[in-house]
Amino acid sequence: MDLGLNDKIALVTGAAGGIGSAIARGLCEEGCKTIFVDIDTDGLKRATRGYKPSAIEEICDITNRKKVKDLFKRIMIKFGTLHILVNCAAVNSAEYIEEIQDEILQKIFDVNITGYIYPTIYAIPLMKKAGYGRLIYINSNSGLKASAGLPLYSGSKYFNRGFAISAALELGKYGITSNSICPSDVYPEGEIEAKSWKNESLLKISFEKEGVSSLKELIKKRNSKNPMKRSCTVDDIKNIALFLASEKAGFINGQSIGVNGGTIPY
Ligand SMILES: NC(=O)c1ccc[n+]([C@@H]2O[C@H](COP(=O)([O-])OP(=O)(O)OC[C@H]3O[C@@H](n4cnc5c(N)ncnc54)[C@H](O)[C@@H]3O)[C@@H](O)[C@H]2O)c1
Repeated sequence: MDLGLNDKIALVTGAAGGIGSAIARGLCEEGCKTIFVDIDTDGLKRATRGYKPSAIEEICDITNRKKVKDLFKRIMIKFGTLHILVNCAAVNSAEYIEEIQDEILQKIFDVNITGYIYPTIYAIPLMKKAGYGRLIYINSNSGLKASAGLPLYSGSKYFNRGFAISAALELGKYGITSNSICPSDVYPEGEIEAKSWKNESLLKISFEKEGVSSLKELIKKRNSKNPMKRSCTVDDIKNIALFLASEKAGFINGQSIGVNGGTIPY
């Protein structure tokens, strides 16, 4: 199926990470000029290797409003438009509520919430001008069904789903759709690993909850409970993101799409 993405302009935040790099590279493969945004300079170099000139590196801290505004100004000058925004950069955290420290509280608000809002604010005028927009929010199973021990992470993902739905209702009339993709666990594998599972507190609390003592055992246990008997991969997420970015998905708006093998069916 031709997705009709050739020559579209796309931007992916967190594009040096496991999931962001897979989506950004997928957009390049479909013919998009894709702006890979991250704060990890070396990671961006790795993610864009072999994908230039379609891949454009931009170092930008998405929590800094001025830097995000300047980034979109550069995009306006260089391309005159933007069609696709994939908000993917986020941080992980796991803790029990009584243990919440200000540092992680602030970090979650900054990256997972503010960092999804700023790029959206500055993408909208460019998308309105194009008469075409695809806002794609990388969410999580945790944004569909909160779990014990993940109050800040789950809370930030619920916030983002609400924000994305509000954007869908506000912007549909301009040809702009807004949807959330909610994947289940994506474990580190492949050339660029999804780094969420490098988080010590997430590992500790997940091990406690599942009664296991290693990541290998955790994966085995969770896969055995999954109806498809496997975990989510970056390709599973990339494929739905590419479809949502395309013309073909023009009537899918305000949805939260689970990519979880059926663990959260509805
Ligand atoms: N890996 C999983 O199990 C999983 C499951 C469901 C949802 N998700 C979601 O998928 C997304 C990506 O996860 P991942 O596992 O690929 O993570 P990752 O850590 O591999 O990638 C995240 C990227 O965001 C970047 N980043 C962090 N703060 C930033 C900032 N202030 N400005 C710009 N870039 C910044 C990091 O440098 C990193 O490259 C996240 O939204 C995460 O919540 C992950």
